Amino acid sequence: MLKGFKGQKDLIPALQAVQKEYGYVPPQAVVQVAEHLKVFPSQIQGVLSFYSMFHTEPRGKNLVTVCRGTACHVRGGKGVLRVVQNELELKDGETDEDYRFTLETVACLGACALSPVMVVNGQVYGRLNPRRIQDTIDLYRQEEK
Ligand code: FES
Repeated sequence: MLKGFKGQKDLIPALQAVQKEYGYVPPQAVVQVAEHLKVFPSQIQGVLSFYSMFHTEPRGKNLVTVCRGTACHVRGGKGVLRVVQNELELKDGETDEDYRFTLETVACLGACALSPVMVVNGQVYGRLNPRRIQDTIDLYRQEEK
């Protein structure tokens, strides 16, 4: 997995490769990457904590991202987040015990015209209401069975 990565300049691509493989960057991988690229583990920790794209904890198979931006807020985004939290029984940043769902929020998903918006595994769901939220989450629950 780390073949082709050499030196500090490849630190971010190497960590991206690790995350692609495991879904997050586990502590053991930090040691392996540090040895492979000949950098200090503390440098890696610095990169992991600086870039929000990196995750150091296991995440759910399904990533639900709810927008908390202004356009969504004005159109009921707070209620959307509340319904999603109730449906998944998760708070922002949490993953369920079975690693089926992770819930996170972002400042804007870039689909303001469709607000209020959430994204599940890269798929945008807009003009949300409680029914549509439940149907969407049920869809991903059924895919798990
Ligand atoms: S504010 Fe929600 S998508 Fe932009």
